[in-house]
Amino acid sequence: MKKEFQYFNIFKRGITILAFACFVCLGLMTTQLSAHSENPKDGELHFPDYKQWPTFIKGVQKPNMVRDIFVNPTGAKTKRGSAFSEGSTLVMEIYKATMDGDTKVKGDLAKVYVMQKGKDWGKNAPKGLGNGDWIYSAFSPDGKPIKVDYNKCRGCHMPLKEEKDFVHRYDEYFDKRGH
Ligand code: HEC
Repeated sequence: MKKEFQYFNIFKRGITILAFACFVCLGLMTTQLSAHSENPKDGELHFPDYKQWPTFIKGVQKPNMVRDIFVNPTGAKTKRGSAFSEGSTLVMEIYKATMDGDTKVKGDLAKVYVMQKGKDWGKNAPKGLGNGDWIYSAFSPDGKPIKVDYNKCRGCHMPLKEEKDFVHRYDEYFDKRGH
């Protein structure tokens, strides 16, 4: 009788340990899951595979630079007068350029700037620098993140306001697209 009681006790302890292990396991799993579903912050976007995307604007001329801008197919569905929808991405390639007499010669790709928006991503913006739900990232030509001051991206895109959805070439894009 006593021995049976002992076995029962060991059994009970086993169950308790198992339950505890399950509990810890579940806890770890849920924290992992929630970490994955967390929204990105500036500098945390993935380098998009944008080369086949529709053109936003090509050949923006700057001193010592030429810029080509792309928009992903979701963003390209945007209608003039509305904001870009969640899942929109804009990619700006920045090429070095030199002058050959009066002609500008497009050189190597120097940097790739990306802005992307998703539901509630704006909550990750630094205080007072919210640009809707846009998040910014900068990459080297081979797609590696580079160190930049993202508050500068925000500061310079902010004056476009919600009216142009914080996109500098908003009007020019729709003018050129023609609808
Ligand atoms: C000094 C102001 C300034 C800063 C800082 C700046 N931008 Fe821009 N950005 C512009 C202007 C102006 C354009 C329009 C294209 C042009 O004239 O070069 C532009 C265009 C873009 C576009 C194409 C969509 C659009 O708005 O027309 C993307 C994407 C972009 N910038 C991302 C970034 C990222 C990422 C950063 C920070 C790493 C950044 N920008 C910093 C001024 C700025």
